[in-house]
Amino acid sequence: MIPLLLSLLLAWPPGTGAQQDPLMPFMENLDADSNVILKWGFSEVQGTIMFQLTVKTTGWLGFGFSPNGDMAASDIVMGGVGPNGTYFMDYHATGNSFPLVDKKQSYTLLSLTEADGQTTMTFRRPIQSCDEEDFHITDSPVKLIYAYGTSDDIRYHANRRGTKEVNLLKFMPRSSPPDSNYLDFVVENVTVPAERTYYHCKVMKVPKLNGKNHIYRIEPVIEHLDLVHHMLLYGCPSSVNQTYEKKCYTEGSGEDCIRVVSAWGVGGGAFELPEIAGIPIGGQNNDEFYRLEIHYNNLAQEAGRRDSSGLRLYYTAQLRQHDVGIMTTGLMVAIGWGYAIPPNATAFHSYGLCNTSHFSDIMPDPVPDLSVFSVALHTHLAGRKVQAGHIRNGEQIDFLGLDENFNFEMQQATNLGNIKTIKPGDEIVVECTYNTTNRKGITQLGLATTDEMCLAFVFYYPAIPVTSCCSHPDMHAYMAMMGKTVNQNIEEMLKTAAWDQSSTAVHEATMKRVPQIGFIIDVNKNYSMYEGNIRNMTATLSVSCRSDPSLQAGPLEPFNYNTSPRGSGSWVVTSAAGSVFLMLWTTML
Ligand SMILES: *[C@@H]1O[C@H](CO)[C@@H](O)[C@H](O)[C@H]1NC(C)=O
Ligand SMILES: *[C@@H]1O[C@H](CO)[C@@H](O)[C@H](O)[C@H]1NC(C)=O
Ligand SMILES: *[C@@H]1O[C@H](CO)[C@@H](O)[C@H](O)[C@H]1NC(C)=O
Ligand SMILES: *[C@@H]1O[C@H](CO)[C@@H](O)[C@H](O)[C@H]1NC(C)=O
Ligand SMILES: *[C@@H]1O[C@H](CO)[C@@H](O)[C@H](O)[C@H]1NC(C)=O
Ligand SMILES: *[C@@H]1O[C@H](CO)[C@@H](O)[C@H](O)[C@H]1NC(C)=O
Ligand SMILES: *[C@@H]1O[C@H](CO)[C@@H](O)[C@H](O)[C@H]1NC(C)=O
Ligand SMILES: *[C@@H]1O[C@H](CO)[C@@H](O)[C@H](O)[C@H]1NC(C)=O
Repeated sequence: MIPLLLSLLLAWPPGTGAQQDPLMPFMENLDADSNVILKWGFSEVQGTIMFQLTVKTTGWLGFGFSPNGDMAASDIVMGGVGPNGTYFMDYHATGNSFPLVDKKQSYTLLSLTEADGQTTMTFRRPIQSCDEEDFHITDSPVKLIYAYGTSDDIRYHANRRGTKEVNLLKFMPRSSPPDSNYLDFVVENVTVPAERTYYHCKVMKVPKLNGKNHIYRIEPVIEHLDLVHHMLLYGCPSSVNQTYEKKCYTEGSGEDCIRVVSAWGVGGGAFELPEIAGIPIGGQNNDEFYRLEIHYNNLAQEAGRRDSSGLRLYYTAQLRQHDVGIMTTGLMVAIGWGYAIPPNATAFHSYGLCNTSHFSDIMPDPVPDLSVFSVALHTHLAGRKVQAGHIRNGEQIDFLGLDENFNFEMQQATNLGNIKTIKPGDEIVVECTYNTTNRKGITQLGLATTDEMCLAFVFYYPAIPVTSCCSHPDMHAYMAMMGKTVNQNIEEMLKTAAWDQSSTAVHEATMKRVPQIGFIIDVNKNYSMYEGNIRNMTATLSVSCRSDPSLQAGPLEPFNYNTSPRGSGSWVVTSAAGSVFLMLWTTML
């Protein structure tokens, strides 16, 4: 009885009552005494950033961006609730003197309230401003400055001022639960073969944890940055009860372990989960065995190199409100189905669909709304752009992620600027744009970096049992539409085709138009198969310079992409999909 009670107690969400504002998921204390608290969130699609400054004072508040932490040359906004009502104004400072009012007011006040001796000011501005008197926010750390007064008479702030450097657009929280612990999932002295692409797999047993815990932070432990391209950690089902270490995707290697637990991609750093959610580890219903997969990219094909790398997972028994799930979406890596990206294409588009209407095929209703806080986009070497469109009732309502300047060597994850909700029935379309001008033959889907993938890993809560929601064009329909006989060897046909601009265009359009075969796979490898269609992405990004925040109307306003290719890249990278789908394919044959 006692252990059960104990585990129930442990499983009970702590009474922190921590809530995450979906529009402002980030928070930082600007001073040491927690008198000045900043919350913020942003939308790369709308190109706006929203702030909420809460200060323990009933006087005026000032907040701004400074090149060096001083007042000179800073962009400042000041406001408060005074005897005559609220006041709020955009200023800039030319020195250590009273700031000047901007000719163009770029900040929009959303609310200003005073209660319990503190003042809360909520406002919005464009991420990038065309106004010379305003500061451009980029994805680099910026020095935030603040000051406040004890009355509404804006005068010298004395020592009620400070500065803190924060990366607003690539913020990573840093929590330190008192019972913090970590587990290392690492390989030891793996001999990396003299091959360009090598996937090494190690199934490990975790030491018994005292019930369920939450992973809240993942750090890479990398010995050779020039070799390790990505790492993934998967949870295994109870059928896996033995450790082993060998080349991945070979016979009998723990390919039943498909629940993505954590991951790291080249260029990435530590990743921390939002304070209200954690990745479950340990506990009755969680696996004891884990599979670490390391993709070695031995470009020079050097022999005799050894490596000891892996992931360090920080966990806490202080359970957070939600379990985090990681779901793979995009183009299914169905090896042998026939998929070709033609050579000599400057911008070939591939698509994958996830139709969440079909979640209920493999899990009990009701399917909850999923709160997405991070998305990692993934292609291999030919990828140049990736967009994960969010579609509801047949219309694109947002992007879950997008990267207009995809860089294979910079696959780091960042948290989204706001929490996006996937409702049951929503669709996710992943579009990848490839450049194959330097290739002689077709590019197929596969595990090697010279093969391709088109995936988006979606980090969300609360966790549901779905691990993968991907699709592949129906190649029989493709053959029919191309006027070919179905029993022709598709792969052979694609390999030997004479590709030119027009045949490439027809091929690309047909692959998009034919029905998709969608797969939803759960943690037990049960799956549901369905048909679907790729809808057009209707949202576009423009590079217009916008400085008037009042223009922000709809959810899909143009976005200024000049300096900040946000959403860049995938933090998680997988090829697990490959093996899973390969297996599915063979079981279906
Ligand atoms: C409030 O308004 C009155 C009358 O217009 C003015 O005299 C006073 O200075 C104002 N007070 C503040 C703090 O702005
Ligand atoms: C790897 O091998 C080297 C040399 O044989 C040894 O010094 C080192 O301790 C080994 N590292 C691990 C993690 O086993
Ligand atoms: C491991 O699992 C297999 C079945 O999957 C079972 O036959 C075997 O007895 C198990 N071994 C241990 C040590 O539990
Ligand atoms: C590649 O495509 C360009 C047109 O986009 C064409 O001029 C060129 O001949 C092609 N090269 C090859 C090797 O097919
Ligand atoms: C495609 O890649 C080639 C070679 O890497 C490069 O020269 C070219 O500028 C790229 N084209 C586009 C449209 O990205
Ligand atoms: C899913 O898989 C598990 C384990 O393989 C099996 O026991 C269960 O019956 C399956 N559920 C469905 C709905 O197919
Ligand atoms: C998704 O599934 C639903 C229910 O079957 C269907 O009505 C809808 O058309 C599907 N969407 C796509 C894009 O195939
Ligand atoms: C999608 O766009 C293509 C061309 O851009 C067009 O031919 C097609 O009709 C569109 N499909 C839908 C469903 O709107």
